[in-house]
Amino acid sequence: MDRSLTDSWTLGGVPIPNRVVLAPLAGIGNWFVRLQAKRHGAGLAVSEMVSSFAVHYRNERTCRELLRIHPDEHPVSVQLFGHDPDVMASAAERVAAAGADLIDINMGCPVPKVCKTGAGAALLEDPARAVALARAAARGSGLPVTVKLRSGQRPGDLDGITTARRLAEDGGVAGLCVHPRHAAQRHKGQPNYELVRELVDELPVPVLVSGGLYTPESARRAFAQTGAAGVLLARGSLGNPWLFEQLLGRRDGEPGRAEILGELDWVIDRAVEHLGAERATRYLRKFYPWYVERLGGGRALQAALQRAPTLAAARALLHEAGVPAPMAA
Ligand SMILES: Cc1cc2nc3c(=O)[nH]c(=O)nc-3n(C[C@H](O)[C@H](O)[C@H](O)COP(=O)(O)O)c2cc1C
Repeated sequence: MDRSLTDSWTLGGVPIPNRVVLAPLAGIGNWFVRLQAKRHGAGLAVSEMVSSFAVHYRNERTCRELLRIHPDEHPVSVQLFGHDPDVMASAAERVAAAGADLIDINMGCPVPKVCKTGAGAALLEDPARAVALARAAARGSGLPVTVKLRSGQRPGDLDGITTARRLAEDGGVAGLCVHPRHAAQRHKGQPNYELVRELVDELPVPVLVSGGLYTPESARRAFAQTGAAGVLLARGSLGNPWLFEQLLGRRDGEPGRAEILGELDWVIDRAVEHLGAERATRYLRKFYPWYVERLGGGRALQAALQRAPTLAAARALLHEAGVPAPMAA
């Protein structure tokens, strides 16, 4: 059967218009980054990971900033991390009240600070807890719950595959996203898409694929090779929302300078709306390098932007750099 990334589908009963998804990106995937992905065609966007403890204890900044959902970004999934099922249930209830359509649980984060609490990738070795967390999130929220996980902790270890099976059988999950690199690899190395293919064939729920999807070609290849229900764009989407359009057949070429600058202007405006000008000035420093690279800006511009004391100064630097080069005679 011919499958296409433009096909609509449902995930736990939630209609999703296509199969191209924005992956969760810690410190990045806030409401406006998700909205940007949506503007460029993403069928679903997943939030950056949010601490279930912070939500449960009503941490003010977490609830105000990380649970903020824009009316135009639906369907949206909020990703929670944590290790305690009761806390997960309480946080999930709050996430549902904030307006999420789905909840995703992080079982792939390799960062020691997260794993040492028993959350993130540590859950790959504790399938009973993984199942309890998924059930708790569904109980607390009444929403469909998915889990994003890795293939295992260390090279050769397939704990993640076993846990995925348990989650599909006993955890009541609506779907799974598999990043088939082991946690010790962090984000390096070639993902093992064959492992995803096996789970797609075996499990009764939709399985999505993440990892190594930086270009339209690599994402289409992984979609075909794995038979996955959808693809999650992560690093490939940083400063490159046009990748969504390319994958959905809505654009062929790369954006020109004016388009890149226009997009970055939009990002700057939204960051101010989100955090106020002062915090946005610092926050945007991680966003500039992606766009400047596309603009062909060099090290001097990158460094100047990191030092720009105000957003007006940053915009001036960008627009100077963005003036199209004179045509060669
Ligand atoms: C900066 C950064 C932040 C990430 N944050 C999260 C996160 O909060 N939750 C999660 O499940 N995965 C997270 N990931 C993993 C990505 O969602 C994705 O699975 C991974 O980057 C592999 O895809 P890629 O090779 O196409 O980048 C993060 C990755 C990066 C690079």
